[in-house]
Amino acid sequence: MANRLVVGNMKMNLTAPEINKYLKGIEKYAYGKEVCFCPSALYLPYFIGKNFSVGIQNIASTEEGAYTGEIAASQAKSLKVDYAIVGHSERRSYYGETDEVVETKVKMALSHNLKVILCIGETLEERDSLKTYKVLKRQLKSALQGMPAKVVSKMMIAYEPVWAIGTGRVPSNQEIEDTIAFIKDILKELCGVSVKVLYGGSVNSKNIETLNKIPNVDGYLVGGASTKPEEFHKIIEVVVTQ
Ligand code: 13P
Repeated sequence: MANRLVVGNMKMNLTAPEINKYLKGIEKYAYGKEVCFCPSALYLPYFIGKNFSVGIQNIASTEEGAYTGEIAASQAKSLKVDYAIVGHSERRSYYGETDEVVETKVKMALSHNLKVILCIGETLEERDSLKTYKVLKRQLKSALQGMPAKVVSKMMIAYEPVWAIGTGRVPSNQEIEDTIAFIKDILKELCGVSVKVLYGGSVNSKNIETLNKIPNVDGYLVGGASTKPEEFHKIIEVVVTQ
């Protein structure tokens, strides 16, 4: 399948020696720009300048200045980081990122020419009460409405059902296909553009062949499985060769 992107969101995992080992494990594969590693920000310099893309897991909602512990989009860009993940559900639920904060971060990242991966997804409770589409529409509208089509076309959406993250539970292929179609339709309606949509949530080397049969998915956002070089390599192999 041409040009599907595989993004590894390594979250807050691995120590410096483990990162060195990890890189030794993966560097032998000539990955290319369709593979993106998002390690802890501390380790970004270890990953930059190699034969793959690199992303940051989060950026500040403000420009650089007196904001202890934050990382500005301009700083990430100056290191030649390609992508910025914005609005991950862990940021939304553990760090109180509201739709408004997510909107500000999307604009900040785009204004510094980072390619944004905007994460959206429903909780189990929202899914069970049949609110999935309503929630996704609200998240998209709040982050993107009013943005010029040219700008929106440079970003990607990651559909990550919160109940599928780290749980081993994955929606059926049909459910993912329908939800991605819905997201693409909404973006056409709101911004008049086609946008790439990734799927994320318990993607692993065992389910990737099945997931990769979904016709309208443009790639994957992989969490836990991306922290293990062999496991991640298997996922990439399937996506790149199928
Ligand atoms: P898991 O692949 O560990 O479920 O995590 C998904 C995720 O949150 C990627 O951003």
